[in-house]
Amino acid sequence: MLVTAEPTQAAQALAAGHLAGIPTETVYGLGANAAQPSAVSRVYQVKGRPADHPLIVHLADSSAMDAWAVDIPEYARGLAAAYWPGPLTLILRRSTKAKDFITGGQDTVALRVPGHPLARDVIRRFGELVKDPTAGIAAPSANRFGRVSPTSAQDVANDIGELLSERDCILDGGPSTVGVESTIVDCTGSQPVILRPGKISSSEIIATTGLELGDRTATRAPGTLASHYAPEAHVFVVSEGDLTNAVKEGSGLLALASIPTPQGMVRLSAPVHAQEYATVLYRALREADSLQLRAIYAVPPVGDGICEAINDRLTRAAHGE
Ligand code: TXA
Ligand code: MG
Repeated sequence: MLVTAEPTQAAQALAAGHLAGIPTETVYGLGANAAQPSAVSRVYQVKGRPADHPLIVHLADSSAMDAWAVDIPEYARGLAAAYWPGPLTLILRRSTKAKDFITGGQDTVALRVPGHPLARDVIRRFGELVKDPTAGIAAPSANRFGRVSPTSAQDVANDIGELLSERDCILDGGPSTVGVESTIVDCTGSQPVILRPGKISSSEIIATTGLELGDRTATRAPGTLASHYAPEAHVFVVSEGDLTNAVKEGSGLLALASIPTPQGMVRLSAPVHAQEYATVLYRALREADSLQLRAIYAVPPVGDGICEAINDRLTRAAHGE
């Protein structure tokens, strides 16, 4: 498995039916040609992911969305115009181009135009090689199923490097700046429904569409299991005040820099604002495991958008603790 900074190499691997770890602004993805069943099935194998969990199709440009989706509501076009390229995934009615092996057999497809320029560059070059300007790359986050998402090429190599073949590659595009996965918005009904919180906040979606949000519980959201994004260490989501009673020995702290480290705890990170907290979040969880800490105490920042996303991921990592 080759680690490269050269997008043409990743595009060539993808066009030849191999896999490529791809940098995006949210987290790294494990990409395959979204039109090639054998390549996509290797993604599921390498990830250890159940086949009924559908994949996001990544596009070079929003103009490709009409090739993959049908009956696109105006409000979904508005969201694409406002936030693509960027950390937003839209669930739409699928066209015949989006096959069962991508959608888990559902009649919907998840689409995203990533903000990382290298990601779009790879998809565009890949489209040239396969002679389809609307070609898409199916990519889940490039971690083993249920584990913490990778935010650097090194994370991808550590997690799944051994499972990749010589002809697969990992494209190094530097650390992911957003740090948590995209906001997923179901656009198949008359109102948008947020299936996964991310940097693009609910208030931004309401403002852009001029619509109220639909009810999330009415929608099936595969892959949004309560336990997910989990490191080995036990994660406790706490407030600053709770730290007094925390077990200090063998524990790590993840909190904004304004919160001091209790004596005896390992400081995992001291981000100065909420976005930096998100950027370092998964790195900090991984760091706790490499230090073999037993527990991580996380004091999440308060607010909407990226703060909601941080709270969501920490709660899943904590699975109820
Ligand atoms: O930021 C991101 O979204 C990253 C980067 C690589 O783009 N990708 C990512 O992919 O987080 P993944 O597979 O780890 O998470 C995608 C989520 C899964 O929970 C999946 O079940 C859901 O999107 N999803 C995909 N297609 C769907 C569909 N048609 N309907 C409902 N949920 C869908
Ligand atoms: Mg994932």
